[in-house]
Amino acid sequence: MRIAVLTETHPGEARVAATPDSVKALVKAGASITIEKGAGAKASFPDAAYEEAGAKTSTRATALKDAELILSVRRPDEAVLAKFPKDAVLVGLLEPHDGKAFAEACAKGGINALAMEYTPRITRAQAMDALSSQSNLAGYRAVIEAASIYGRAFPMMMTAAGTIAAAKAFVMGAGVAGLQAIATARRLGAIVSATDVRPAAKEQVASLGAKFVAVEDEEFKAAETAGGYAKEMSAEYKAKQSELVAAHIAKQDIVVTTALIPGRPAPRLITKAMVEAMKPGSVIVDIAASAGGNCELTKADEIVEHGGVKIAGFSNLPARLAADASQLLAKNFVNLYPLLKDEAGKLAPQWEDDIIKGMTLTRDGQVIHPSFGG
Ligand code: NAI
Repeated sequence: MRIAVLTETHPGEARVAATPDSVKALVKAGASITIEKGAGAKASFPDAAYEEAGAKTSTRATALKDAELILSVRRPDEAVLAKFPKDAVLVGLLEPHDGKAFAEACAKGGINALAMEYTPRITRAQAMDALSSQSNLAGYRAVIEAASIYGRAFPMMMTAAGTIAAAKAFVMGAGVAGLQAIATARRLGAIVSATDVRPAAKEQVASLGAKFVAVEDEEFKAAETAGGYAKEMSAEYKAKQSELVAAHIAKQDIVVTTALIPGRPAPRLITKAMVEAMKPGSVIVDIAASAGGNCELTKADEIVEHGGVKIAGFSNLPARLAADASQLLAKNFVNLYPLLKDEAGKLAPQWEDDIIKGMTLTRDGQVIHPSFGG
């Protein structure tokens, strides 16, 4: 199978869909891979390392010529998509929740598009779950960013010149990113608390040594979907939770927000008034910035200062750890690869497999994913 990996076209994207290690694994599985020259540069993977691993490096046009499978971190832009050969399979984080126009463009060009976001959350698919691999790193990086913006230390320090108090960190949303944020803040020595609307999160938060803060009523006990995601909560629950959180937030130095509901705008958890109740010097890092933000004052890709509180809205935290994020994402693709070929190694996506079925946005010139209502 001929695989192409291109330089990402999304502004600010530093990740790449293949690494020298993933090239080795795919070549061993019978693939031939062409990487666009310079595609891995921002993630610290030079062309020579890909070549040593068994890939060819070339211009974009040569990489795309006769390509059967195109691995991509994000959606390629329109001009690049237009150059894809008909019947090629495109796999990547294609942002399907607002991807109808993109899916239609793929269908029109005869591209079979598979969205990594729709990898089903079943045990067999865990090693292919790119949302989890990237969220984990985002959670880590959010705390590192917070520590660098914060003008004080995280751990308690007893020195001859006096004692520095430990920072208090609060993590809102204890999913994959939130749990890693908790673990990271704990490692740095902060006193950590966390909240979530899913009851399963309570035990996970406690097991990481953090305090769980939430309104635990009947609605909370039923807030998890079969897929493990949060449901949109009622206005009444939100008001109760908001009151509890407002009092808690006023005492925090660091707040990391990660709350997301798939396909919906991020829930608004921190109002302007709550920010105004925080101490000057406090820092909020809003991981949900690209979905509209959990904080009312968040601006994507900016650090906003309000009353001495800094609110950071990094919209692509995994790209700030591009080497590791690429490494894990590339491994997700390697793990998916056996479902895209037949025994002879020829391109043959197993369309009836639950994993492939769940991910398929377009096939044979048609937009087919049920989320597009067709
Ligand atoms: P996510 O990225 O969709 O959301 C992040 C977190 O925000 C979630 O924990 C969610 O409950 C929380 N949240 C949503 N609304 C909120 C609100 N109003 N207030 C506070 N928190 C709110 O979710 P993520 O991190 O992708 O996964 C959620 C869970 O799914 C994981 O913790 C895990 O249990 C499960 N999972 C299962 C996998 C599997 O293969 N079986 C793989 C990955 C995750």
